[in-house]
Amino acid sequence: MSAQILLAIESSCDETAAAVIDSDLNVLSSVIATQDELHQRFGGVVPEIASRAHLSNILPVIDEALRKSDRKLADLSAIAVMTQPGLVGSLLVGLTAAKSLSLVLDIPLIALNHIHAHLYACQMIADEDLFPAIGLVVSGGHTNLYDCQSATEYELIGSTIDDAAGEAFDKSAAILGLPYPGGPHIARVAQQGDLKAFKFPRTFIKDDRLAFSFSGIKTSLRYTALGQPGAREEPPPLTEQRVADIAASFQEAVVDVLIAKCQQAARAYDRDTLCIGGGVAANQRFRERLAELDASDGINVTIAPMSLCTDNAAMGAIAWELLNKGQISDLDVDVTPGLVRHRQ
Ligand code: KG4
Ligand code: ZN
Repeated sequence: MSAQILLAIESSCDETAAAVIDSDLNVLSSVIATQDELHQRFGGVVPEIASRAHLSNILPVIDEALRKSDRKLADLSAIAVMTQPGLVGSLLVGLTAAKSLSLVLDIPLIALNHIHAHLYACQMIADEDLFPAIGLVVSGGHTNLYDCQSATEYELIGSTIDDAAGEAFDKSAAILGLPYPGGPHIARVAQQGDLKAFKFPRTFIKDDRLAFSFSGIKTSLRYTALGQPGAREEPPPLTEQRVADIAASFQEAVVDVLIAKCQQAARAYDRDTLCIGGGVAANQRFRERLAELDASDGINVTIAPMSLCTDNAAMGAIAWELLNKGQISDLDVDVTPGLVRHRQ
Protein backbone atom coordinates (compact mmCIF):
# COMPACT_ATOMS: atom_id res chain seq x y z
CA MET A 1 0.00 0.00 0.00
CA SER A 2 1.37 3.46 -0.83
CA ALA A 3 2.13 5.79 2.09
CA GLN A 4 -0.66 8.02 3.33
CA ILE A 5 -0.05 11.75 3.52
CA LEU A 6 -0.97 14.50 5.94
CA LEU A 7 -0.88 18.27 5.88
CA ALA A 8 0.52 19.91 9.02
CA ILE A 9 -0.02 23.58 9.87
CA GLU A 10 1.96 25.77 12.29
CA SER A 11 1.03 29.34 13.22
CA SER A 12 1.68 29.48 16.95
CA CYS A 13 3.92 32.54 16.98
CA ASP A 14 5.37 34.51 14.09
CA GLU A 15 5.95 31.87 11.44
CA THR A 16 3.18 30.71 9.12
CA ALA A 17 4.12 27.20 8.02
CA ALA A 18 2.66 24.18 6.25
CA ALA A 19 4.19 20.82 5.43
CA VAL A 20 3.15 17.67 3.63
CA ILE A 21 4.49 14.53 5.31
CA ASP A 22 3.92 10.89 4.44
CA SER A 23 3.32 8.10 6.93
CA ASP A 24 6.96 6.97 6.57
CA LEU A 25 7.92 10.41 7.97
CA ASN A 26 9.23 11.67 4.63
CA VAL A 27 8.78 15.43 4.41
CA LEU A 28 7.46 16.00 0.89
CA SER A 29 7.38 19.77 1.33
CA SER A 30 7.89 22.31 4.10
CA VAL A 31 7.02 25.95 3.54
CA ILE A 32 7.69 28.69 6.10
CA ALA A 33 6.68 32.34 5.76
CA THR A 34 8.64 34.27 8.38
CA GLN A 35 7.47 37.59 9.75
CA ASP A 36 10.86 38.70 11.07
CA GLU A 37 10.86 41.88 9.00
CA LEU A 38 7.44 42.93 10.32
CA HIS A 39 8.49 42.59 13.97
CA GLN A 40 12.10 43.71 13.64
CA ARG A 41 11.55 47.37 14.39
CA PHE A 42 9.67 46.50 17.61
CA GLY A 43 12.47 44.20 18.83
CA GLY A 44 10.04 41.33 19.44
CA VAL A 45 6.83 39.73 18.22
CA VAL A 46 3.76 42.01 18.29
CA PRO A 47 0.79 39.61 18.69
CA GLU A 48 -1.75 41.68 16.74
CA ILE A 49 0.63 42.12 13.79
CA ALA A 50 1.43 38.40 13.90
CA SER A 51 -2.25 37.35 13.68
CA ARG A 52 -2.89 39.67 10.75
CA ALA A 53 0.15 38.39 8.87
CA HIS A 54 -0.94 34.78 9.51
CA LEU A 55 -4.33 35.61 8.02
CA SER A 56 -2.84 36.81 4.77
CA ASN A 57 -0.16 34.07 4.63
CA ILE A 58 -2.03 30.95 5.62
CA LEU A 59 -3.76 30.03 2.35
CA PRO A 60 -0.80 30.84 0.05
CA VAL A 61 1.49 28.84 2.36
CA ILE A 62 -0.84 25.80 2.31
CA ASP A 63 -1.15 26.09 -1.49
CA GLU A 64 2.61 26.23 -1.89
CA ALA A 65 3.17 23.24 0.39
CA LEU A 66 0.74 21.18 -1.69
CA ARG A 67 2.25 22.39 -4.96
CA LYS A 68 5.83 21.62 -3.87
CA SER A 69 4.81 18.15 -2.70
CA ASP A 70 3.06 17.54 -5.99
CA ARG A 71 -0.10 16.56 -4.12
CA LYS A 72 -3.68 17.85 -4.16
CA LEU A 73 -6.09 18.47 -1.30
CA ALA A 74 -7.95 15.32 -2.35
CA ASP A 75 -4.79 13.24 -1.70
CA LEU A 76 -4.68 14.14 2.01
CA SER A 77 -5.70 11.61 4.62
CA ALA A 78 -5.37 13.85 7.71
CA ILE A 79 -4.85 17.46 8.82
CA ALA A 80 -2.67 18.32 11.80
CA VAL A 81 -2.33 21.70 13.49
CA MET A 82 -0.44 23.11 16.45
CA THR A 83 -3.05 24.24 18.97
CA GLN A 84 -0.78 24.90 21.97
CA PRO A 85 1.08 26.77 23.36
CA GLY A 86 1.45 30.10 21.59
CA LEU A 87 -0.22 33.42 20.89
CA VAL A 88 -3.99 33.06 20.97
CA GLY A 89 -4.71 35.05 17.80
CA SER A 90 -1.92 33.32 15.89
CA LEU A 91 -2.98 29.82 16.96
CA LEU A 92 -6.59 30.53 15.99
CA VAL A 93 -5.67 31.29 12.37
CA GLY A 94 -4.00 27.90 11.88
CA LEU A 95 -6.70 26.04 13.77
CA THR A 96 -9.51 27.64 11.79
CA ALA A 97 -7.84 26.75 8.49
CA ALA A 98 -7.26 23.18 9.69
CA LYS A 99 -10.84 22.75 10.92
CA SER A 100 -12.21 24.03 7.61
CA LEU A 101 -10.09 21.57 5.61
CA SER A 102 -10.95 18.69 7.92
CA LEU A 103 -14.67 19.44 7.57
CA VAL A 104 -14.66 19.99 3.82
CA LEU A 105 -12.41 17.02 3.01
CA ASP A 106 -13.99 14.82 5.70
CA ILE A 107 -10.62 13.71 7.07
CA PRO A 108 -9.38 13.50 10.69
CA LEU A 109 -8.12 16.59 12.53
CA ILE A 110 -5.19 16.13 14.90
CA ALA A 111 -4.40 18.83 17.45
CA LEU A 112 -0.69 19.07 18.25
CA ASN A 113 1.42 20.44 21.06
CA HIS A 114 4.07 22.66 19.46
CA ILE A 115 6.67 21.89 22.15
CA HIS A 116 6.25 18.14 21.81
CA ALA A 117 6.59 18.54 18.05
CA HIS A 118 9.94 20.35 18.59
CA LEU A 119 11.19 17.22 20.38
CA TYR A 120 9.68 14.87 17.84
CA ALA A 121 11.91 16.56 15.23
CA CYS A 122 14.73 14.46 16.78
CA GLN A 123 12.82 11.23 16.15
CA MET A 124 12.40 12.22 12.51
CA ILE A 125 16.14 11.77 11.86
CA ALA A 126 16.66 8.76 14.11
CA ASP A 127 17.04 5.20 12.82
CA GLU A 128 15.42 3.71 15.90
CA ASP A 129 12.93 4.67 18.59
CA LEU A 130 14.63 7.38 20.68
CA PHE A 131 12.28 7.17 23.60
CA PRO A 132 12.36 7.00 26.59
CA ALA A 133 14.58 10.06 26.77
CA ILE A 134 15.15 13.39 28.44
CA GLY A 135 13.98 16.18 26.16
CA LEU A 136 15.07 19.82 26.21
CA VAL A 137 13.08 22.36 24.21
CA VAL A 138 14.99 25.59 24.11
CA SER A 139 13.42 28.37 22.08
CA GLY A 140 12.30 31.98 22.15
CA GLY A 141 9.28 31.15 24.28
CA HIS A 142 10.41 28.12 26.28
CA THR A 143 13.24 26.45 28.08
CA ASN A 144 11.63 23.21 29.18
CA LEU A 145 12.96 19.86 30.29
CA TYR A 146 10.78 16.79 29.78
CA ASP A 147 10.91 13.20 30.79
CA CYS A 148 9.65 11.62 27.58
CA GLN A 149 8.30 8.15 28.23
CA SER A 150 7.37 7.65 24.59
CA ALA A 151 7.01 9.68 21.39
CA THR A 152 3.67 11.00 22.67
CA GLU A 153 4.02 11.03 26.47
CA TYR A 154 5.97 13.98 27.81
CA GLU A 155 6.16 14.98 31.46
CA LEU A 156 7.39 18.51 32.13
CA ILE A 157 10.15 18.20 34.76
CA GLY A 158 11.77 21.63 34.64
CA SER A 159 11.45 25.06 33.11
CA THR A 160 12.62 28.64 33.35
CA ILE A 161 11.35 30.83 36.14
CA ASP A 162 11.72 33.97 34.02
CA ASP A 163 13.11 34.45 30.49
CA ALA A 164 13.51 31.63 27.97
CA ALA A 165 17.05 31.08 26.69
CA GLY A 166 16.12 32.31 23.20
CA GLU A 167 14.51 35.39 24.72
CA ALA A 168 17.79 36.10 26.56
CA PHE A 169 19.63 35.79 23.23
CA ASP A 170 17.14 38.17 21.58
CA LYS A 171 17.19 40.77 24.37
CA SER A 172 20.96 40.62 24.76
CA ALA A 173 21.39 41.05 21.01
CA ALA A 174 19.21 44.17 21.17
CA ILE A 175 21.43 45.60 23.93
CA LEU A 176 24.47 44.95 21.73
CA GLY A 177 22.80 46.70 18.79
CA LEU A 178 22.30 43.48 16.80
CA PRO A 179 19.10 42.82 14.79
CA TYR A 180 16.07 40.72 15.79
CA PRO A 181 15.86 37.75 16.18
CA GLY A 182 19.14 38.00 17.99
CA GLY A 183 20.19 34.36 18.48
CA PRO A 184 21.78 33.84 15.06
CA HIS A 185 23.45 37.28 15.22
CA ILE A 186 24.98 36.63 18.65
CA ALA A 187 26.22 33.28 17.34
CA ARG A 188 27.70 34.94 14.25
CA VAL A 189 29.64 37.70 16.03
CA ALA A 190 30.67 35.30 18.84
CA GLN A 191 32.83 33.42 16.33
CA GLN A 192 35.33 36.32 16.45
CA GLY A 193 35.10 36.71 20.23
CA ASP A 194 36.89 35.37 23.31
CA LEU A 195 34.48 33.24 25.31
CA LYS A 196 36.54 33.78 28.47
CA ALA A 197 36.63 37.59 28.17
CA PHE A 198 33.76 38.16 30.61
CA LYS A 199 32.36 36.04 33.42
CA PHE A 200 28.58 36.02 33.16
CA PRO A 201 26.37 34.31 35.77
CA ARG A 202 25.42 30.66 35.36
CA THR A 203 22.27 30.80 37.43
CA PHE A 204 21.15 27.59 39.23
CA ILE A 205 24.02 25.60 37.69
CA LYS A 206 24.81 24.00 41.05
CA ASP A 207 21.19 23.98 42.25
CA ASP A 208 19.45 20.61 42.60
CA ARG A 209 16.25 21.96 41.11
CA LEU A 210 15.67 21.42 37.39
CA ALA A 211 15.04 25.13 36.90
CA PHE A 212 16.51 27.80 34.67
CA SER A 213 16.77 31.59 35.03
CA PHE A 214 18.12 33.80 32.29
CA SER A 215 17.08 37.28 33.36
CA GLY A 216 20.19 37.81 35.55
CA ILE A 217 22.62 37.14 32.72
CA LYS A 218 20.79 39.63 30.54
CA THR A 219 21.12 42.35 33.20
CA SER A 220 24.77 41.47 33.71
CA LEU A 221 25.34 41.76 29.97
CA ARG A 222 23.59 45.13 29.95
CA TYR A 223 25.88 46.48 32.69
CA THR A 224 28.96 45.10 30.92
CA ALA A 225 27.97 46.60 27.58
CA LEU A 226 26.39 49.90 28.64
CA GLY A 227 27.76 50.45 32.16
CA GLN A 228 26.22 50.26 35.63
CA PRO A 229 23.41 52.76 36.28
CA GLY A 230 24.80 55.68 38.29
CA ALA A 231 28.43 54.63 37.77
CA ARG A 232 30.88 57.53 37.56
CA GLU A 233 32.95 56.04 34.79
CA GLU A 234 31.76 55.51 31.26
CA PRO A 235 32.01 51.90 30.04
CA PRO A 236 34.67 51.21 27.37
CA PRO A 237 33.35 51.90 23.85
CA LEU A 238 31.37 49.06 22.30
CA THR A 239 33.85 48.24 19.57
CA GLU A 240 33.26 45.34 17.20
CA GLN A 241 35.76 43.26 19.20
CA ARG A 242 34.12 44.08 22.52
CA VAL A 243 30.69 43.13 21.15
CA ALA A 244 32.18 39.85 19.88
CA ASP A 245 33.80 39.12 23.26
CA ILE A 246 30.57 39.88 25.14
CA ALA A 247 28.56 37.73 22.71
CA ALA A 248 30.97 34.78 22.98
CA SER A 249 31.10 34.97 26.79
CA PHE A 250 27.31 35.26 27.02
CA GLN A 251 26.74 32.34 24.65
CA GLU A 252 29.17 30.15 26.61
CA ALA A 253 27.43 30.90 29.90
CA VAL A 254 24.00 30.01 28.48
CA VAL A 255 25.36 26.83 26.88
CA ASP A 256 27.10 25.83 30.15
CA VAL A 257 23.79 26.03 31.99
CA LEU A 258 21.82 24.16 29.32
CA ILE A 259 24.39 21.33 29.22
CA ALA A 260 24.59 21.07 33.01
CA LYS A 261 20.81 20.85 33.39
CA CYS A 262 20.55 18.18 30.68
CA GLN A 263 23.16 16.09 32.51
CA GLN A 264 21.38 16.66 35.82
CA ALA A 265 18.00 15.63 34.37
CA ALA A 266 19.49 12.50 32.77
CA ARG A 267 20.97 11.50 36.15
CA ALA A 268 17.82 12.31 38.11
CA TYR A 269 15.57 10.31 35.77
CA ASP A 270 18.10 7.60 34.99
CA ARG A 271 17.94 8.18 31.23
CA ASP A 272 20.83 7.76 28.82
CA THR A 273 19.22 9.46 25.80
CA LEU A 274 18.86 13.17 25.26
CA CYS A 275 16.74 14.91 22.59
CA ILE A 276 17.23 18.62 21.93
CA GLY A 277 14.86 20.81 19.92
CA GLY A 278 13.75 24.43 19.45
CA GLY A 279 15.33 27.49 17.86
CA VAL A 280 18.35 27.71 20.20
CA ALA A 281 19.23 24.11 19.26
CA ALA A 282 20.38 25.66 15.96
CA ASN A 283 23.25 27.30 17.86
CA GLN A 284 26.54 25.87 16.60
CA ARG A 285 28.44 26.24 19.87
CA PHE A 286 25.62 24.43 21.72
CA ARG A 287 25.69 21.67 19.10
CA GLU A 288 29.48 21.30 19.49
CA ARG A 289 29.20 21.05 23.26
CA LEU A 290 26.37 18.49 22.95
CA ALA A 291 28.53 16.43 20.59
CA GLU A 292 31.30 16.46 23.24
CA LEU A 293 28.75 15.32 25.82
CA ASP A 294 27.67 12.50 23.53
CA ALA A 295 31.29 11.40 23.09
CA SER A 296 32.37 11.66 26.72
CA ASP A 297 29.45 11.09 29.04
CA GLY A 298 27.77 7.88 27.91
CA ILE A 299 24.73 9.92 26.92
CA ASN A 300 23.28 9.49 23.43
CA VAL A 301 22.42 12.93 22.16
CA THR A 302 20.11 13.62 19.22
CA ILE A 303 19.69 17.24 18.17
CA ALA A 304 16.90 18.25 15.81
CA PRO A 305 18.28 18.86 12.29
CA MET A 306 18.90 22.52 11.49
CA SER A 307 15.88 22.71 9.19
CA LEU A 308 13.60 21.56 12.03
CA CYS A 309 15.01 23.66 14.92
CA THR A 310 13.24 26.96 14.44
CA ASP A 311 9.48 26.94 13.97
CA ASN A 312 8.22 24.81 11.09
CA ALA A 313 5.29 22.56 10.27
CA ALA A 314 7.29 19.47 9.25
CA MET A 315 7.77 18.56 12.91
CA GLY A 316 3.99 18.08 12.83
CA ALA A 317 4.94 14.56 11.70
CA ILE A 318 4.25 13.69 15.34
CA ALA A 319 0.60 13.60 14.18
CA TRP A 320 1.20 10.13 12.73
CA GLU A 321 1.99 8.83 16.23
CA LEU A 322 -1.23 10.33 17.60
CA LEU A 323 -3.30 9.16 14.65
CA ASN A 324 -1.98 5.61 15.08
CA LYS A 325 -3.13 5.75 18.70
CA GLY A 326 -6.56 7.04 17.66
CA GLN A 327 -5.95 10.45 19.26
CA ILE A 328 -8.12 12.43 16.86
CA SER A 329 -9.63 15.79 17.81
CA ASP A 330 -13.25 16.88 17.57
CA LEU A 331 -14.10 19.87 15.43
CA ASP A 332 -14.85 21.90 18.57
CA VAL A 333 -11.25 21.60 19.81
CA ASP A 334 -9.92 24.99 20.98
CA VAL A 335 -6.48 26.57 21.25
CA THR A 336 -4.59 26.45 24.58
CA PRO A 337 -2.27 29.48 24.51
CA GLY A 338 -0.52 28.91 27.85
CA LEU A 339 1.85 26.15 28.79
CA VAL A 340 0.46 23.74 31.36
CA ARG A 341 3.05 24.16 34.08
CA HIS A 342 4.43 21.69 36.56
CA ARG A 343 5.10 22.45 40.22
CA GLN A 344 8.64 23.37 41.13
O1 KG4 B 1 11.63 27.61 18.09
P1 KG4 B 1 11.62 29.03 17.63
O2 KG4 B 1 11.67 29.30 16.15
O3 KG4 B 1 10.37 29.80 18.16
C1 KG4 B 1 9.79 29.59 19.40
O4 KG4 B 1 9.02 28.59 19.53
O5 KG4 B 1 10.13 30.40 20.28
O6 KG4 B 1 12.86 29.74 18.35
C2 KG4 B 1 13.21 31.07 18.08
C3 KG4 B 1 14.35 31.44 19.01
C4 KG4 B 1 14.70 32.93 18.97
O7 KG4 B 1 14.81 33.39 20.30
C5 KG4 B 1 16.05 32.94 18.25
O8 KG4 B 1 16.86 34.02 18.61
C6 KG4 B 1 16.63 31.61 18.69
O9 KG4 B 1 15.54 30.72 18.66
N1 KG4 B 1 17.68 31.15 17.78
C7 KG4 B 1 18.98 31.01 18.15
C8 KG4 B 1 19.69 30.61 16.99
N2 KG4 B 1 18.79 30.50 15.96
C9 KG4 B 1 17.57 30.84 16.47
N3 KG4 B 1 19.57 31.20 19.33
C10 KG4 B 1 20.90 30.99 19.40
N4 KG4 B 1 21.65 30.63 18.34
C11 KG4 B 1 21.09 30.42 17.13
N5 KG4 B 1 21.86 30.06 16.10
ZN1 ZN C 1 8.87 26.83 18.59
